[in-house]
Amino acid sequence: MAAKPTVLVVGSTGMLGAKIISALLDKGTTEVKAMVRSINDSDEENQKKIEAMKAQGATIVEGDLMKPETLLAICQGVDVVISSVGNNEVTVPGQKNLIDAAKQQGVKRFIPSDYSVDYRKLDYGDNDNLDKRKEVFEYLQQSGLEYTLILNGAFMDNVGTPYMPQFDFDNGNFQYWGDGETPLDFTTTDDTAKYVAEAVTDPGLANTALEVAGEVLTMKQLLAAYEEATGKKLQEKPLGSVEELKAWIEQKKPSAKSPVEYVPQQYEYTMVSSKAKLDNIQNSRYPNIKPLTVRQFLEKADI
Ligand SMILES: NC(=O)c1ccc[n+]([C@@H]2O[C@H](COP(=O)([O-])OP(=O)(O)OC[C@H]3O[C@@H](n4cnc5c(N)ncnc54)[C@H](OP(=O)(O)O)[C@@H]3O)[C@@H](O)[C@H]2O)c1
Repeated sequence: MAAKPTVLVVGSTGMLGAKIISALLDKGTTEVKAMVRSINDSDEENQKKIEAMKAQGATIVEGDLMKPETLLAICQGVDVVISSVGNNEVTVPGQKNLIDAAKQQGVKRFIPSDYSVDYRKLDYGDNDNLDKRKEVFEYLQQSGLEYTLILNGAFMDNVGTPYMPQFDFDNGNFQYWGDGETPLDFTTTDDTAKYVAEAVTDPGLANTALEVAGEVLTMKQLLAAYEEATGKKLQEKPLGSVEELKAWIEQKKPSAKSPVEYVPQQYEYTMVSSKAKLDNIQNSRYPNIKPLTVRQFLEKADI
């Protein structure tokens, strides 16, 4: 019997990375190596995740994306690298280091940390975080490594976080830019992780993207799904046109003390403008996955 392919997950203590490891181990068709920054992590939550990964059958390896010398040995014997690092100063240089090490060690496929709208269709400047994805993807293409992108729209799990400013619970409002009628893509983090576990060795996904969405809803439908799931009411509050949103961002950005003051709106822009809409949703590729709708997700979520 042929040996199972080895998959290296980087960012494995992260919110999504830990779920990707679980999904890979549940599927059971790959050997899983989980890279962590410290095997004896002083962070209690991270340590719990590391122990759980070990118990589930992952091999834990220590490395740091900003220390390229640690990455070469880790990539040895690896078939697929999955990156799930967050958005920060490490995103671009760290993933470039990882691509270099993967290339040198003959890794077969690289999955960068995307898990987003289709940033390939955006222009630089549309979204600070997605600019980083564009830069890493360009570097990956130039490397000649085989790649698979995972594009899932917005995580439904963002409801109640600053990354979905539409839900203004403090003021009882549901606020949005645009006409409220544009289709938008949403997927849960759990379902995204399951799709990653399928995509990882799917030969049909060489040098292309897997586009998936738990549900495609307009802003008005998103509000209705929330109200139906929770039995709570929010006041619908249109904020202006897509052009006015773009102008709002341009005006806000120079004076912002933190990107969180305008990056959520940049994400909203990429969605309500349809500029980064997924146009090749392929859920049916894996009929074994039954992704949650927004309503199903919100019925279970504690929001
Ligand atoms: N579509 C959406 O709506 C949406 C929403 C949220 C996130 N995302 C995307 O999902 C992806 C994962 O995000 P996340 O929220 O899961 O990230 P996260 O929770 O912040 O996790 C980041 C991971 O990267 C690791 N890391 C950071 N610096 C490192 C370094 N120098 N060397 C090695 N590892 C390092 C962290 O390790 P430590 O634990 O040691 O710090 C952690 O495991 C990102 O691409 C993010 O943009 C998409």
